[in-house]
Amino acid sequence: MTIRIAVIGAGIMGADHAKIVAQDLPGAKLQVVCDVDAARARRIADACGAADVGASPEAAIARADVDAVIIASPDVTHAPLALACIKAGKKVLCEKPLSQSSAECLAVMKAEQAAGQRFIQLGFMRRFDQSYVEMKQALADGKLGRALMMHNFHRNVETPNADFTGAMAITNSAPHEFDVVRHVLSTECAAISAFQPKRSDARVAPVFMVLETVDNQLVNIEINNNAAYGYDVRAELVGEQASIAMNTIAYTRMDGALRNSTGYDADWRGRYADAYRRQNRAFLRFVETGTFPEIASSSWDGYCSTIVAEAGVKALSEGRKMLVEMIAKPAFFA
Ligand SMILES: NC(=O)c1ccc[n+]([C@@H]2O[C@H](COP(=O)([O-])OP(=O)(O)OC[C@H]3O[C@@H](n4cnc5c(N)ncnc54)[C@H](O)[C@@H]3O)[C@@H](O)[C@H]2O)c1
Repeated sequence: MTIRIAVIGAGIMGADHAKIVAQDLPGAKLQVVCDVDAARARRIADACGAADVGASPEAAIARADVDAVIIASPDVTHAPLALACIKAGKKVLCEKPLSQSSAECLAVMKAEQAAGQRFIQLGFMRRFDQSYVEMKQALADGKLGRALMMHNFHRNVETPNADFTGAMAITNSAPHEFDVVRHVLSTECAAISAFQPKRSDARVAPVFMVLETVDNQLVNIEINNNAAYGYDVRAELVGEQASIAMNTIAYTRMDGALRNSTGYDADWRGRYADAYRRQNRAFLRFVETGTFPEIASSSWDGYCSTIVAEAGVKALSEGRKMLVEMIAKPAFFA
């Protein structure tokens, strides 16, 4: 059976998802590309060979010829559109974050529980990246001993707009780190502190966070949205017996002018190309079988990363450590 997919939002991520569905997802068909900007939807639909276009996400979700949905519109649209998908009985791969409000995340979790089945897979694709897969495996195999610390660096070339703030770095960029740290360490965050150094210009300075886990481990996260030199993500997990670090991935090296150098991508699409494809294949299996993919992020995971982000924003604005106070994990998400 071919799964007919609607992609909602035809911006950077929506265009990438549309391309993956059209070219790299056997068993799936790109049925509709939907964007409030009709010209943009048309451009991506034509480039990827979609069957149809639309401008109303609600109408796209309701279509009888759509079996599953990928939400790649802006953050504020995720929870309302995820709720519409649950109401329509359609499984959804929703870009991160599920919402920037933990109350909205809880509403989505409640709707899934009321429907009696899982609908939401969240787009925290780092879980599918081979570096984090190997870190988690090394820890599970006992090669590291007890995990003590995790160091994480997330650097973008520059912010998309000049009014980007430290709080936005925490609510939009950092959730990837919050999620993958919880996933790799199999733990929850108990407290968060957040700091910013001073830049010499008006651009947003990096946000430096320290998380304390419920298992008394320490995690540092640098979110540097104006790193200037390239897209760069690094991570190292330090255990009592060994440590494991992500390698920089480069297919080529340039030798010349008495130097040897490798390049950086301008953004995340190249670095995580495999992870997005693995994630989307897992989503397709979820739609086909109804079984939630073992390593994927659920709406519960979306809630957890958002509640850490909410505490992080407070920690930054109030200049003090904040406790992360979460509800107990419902059995439904076990
Ligand atoms: N997983 C990742 O690695 C990753 C990376 C970047 C962005 N994201 C997430 O993906 C989402 C999209 O980010 P982007 O960078 O592609 O943004 P973008 O601004 O490039 O694209 C968003 C698109 O959504 C459209 N849109 C706005 N409101 C809409 C609505 N109600 N219905 C349908 N379309 C609507 C816009 O016209 C635009 O074309 C964001 O939530 C972001 O957090 C995830």
